[in-house]
Amino acid sequence: MNPEATMSRGDMDKEAAARAFPEYTGGRDLRRIVFSAGEIADRVDEMGREIAGAYGPEDDVLLLGLLKGSFVFLGDLVRCIRRPLQVDFLVASSYGSGTESSGDVKLLYDPSAPMDGRHIILVEDIIDSGTTLNRLMGAIREREPASVEICALLHKHVATNLEHEARWVGFDAPNEFLVGYGLDHAENFRHLPFIASLPT
Ligand code: IMP
Ligand code: MG
Repeated sequence: MNPEATMSRGDMDKEAAARAFPEYTGGRDLRRIVFSAGEIADRVDEMGREIAGAYGPEDDVLLLGLLKGSFVFLGDLVRCIRRPLQVDFLVASSYGSGTESSGDVKLLYDPSAPMDGRHIILVEDIIDSGTTLNRLMGAIREREPASVEICALLHKHVATNLEHEARWVGFDAPNEFLVGYGLDHAENFRHLPFIASLPT
């Protein structure tokens, strides 16, 4: 029997990705593929529709992507939101090159776009300790937007001090260190088209 007949699109992508990753990583081992490219594409499309449906036709919507981790997600997401919007970026740094949060969030680039009276969507790659969001939400609220929502591709649900819940979450993530689709480890692996975990 043709194996493709019994495989979902997600399974096929996982197999294809597993074959592809030695080239992407230069042979460095990944532990496992957690979300395939197909699973991500399907979910991002759903999120785009939900976001488009959440605002009125006159609302002035500004997506703020948190660099660098959200760049792939944001690029795909905006193309799934069928309504007028604008895009800008924030650059914050809390992780250095390790896998544990330092807890010290620095704002390295602050968007020049005005925010007062606008509907802001803060786009994050992953919510882990929540420290980054706690810090950034304060800075955004000071600029008196009409609303602020958080849209995160992944949520680890480990944070104990989360002050703001995300309105849109792509996937609940396992408590493993994840790379790919924008997520890095020491700046590597951001270009993987799927999300994988690293060996512990
Ligand atoms: P938080 O401040 O601890 O919530 O961390 C958020 C930021 O840490 C994210 O935007 C990521 O850049 C980074 N981060 C947290 N967990 C992971 C992970 O599993 N892989 C890669 N980066 C992560
Ligand atoms: Mg990072």
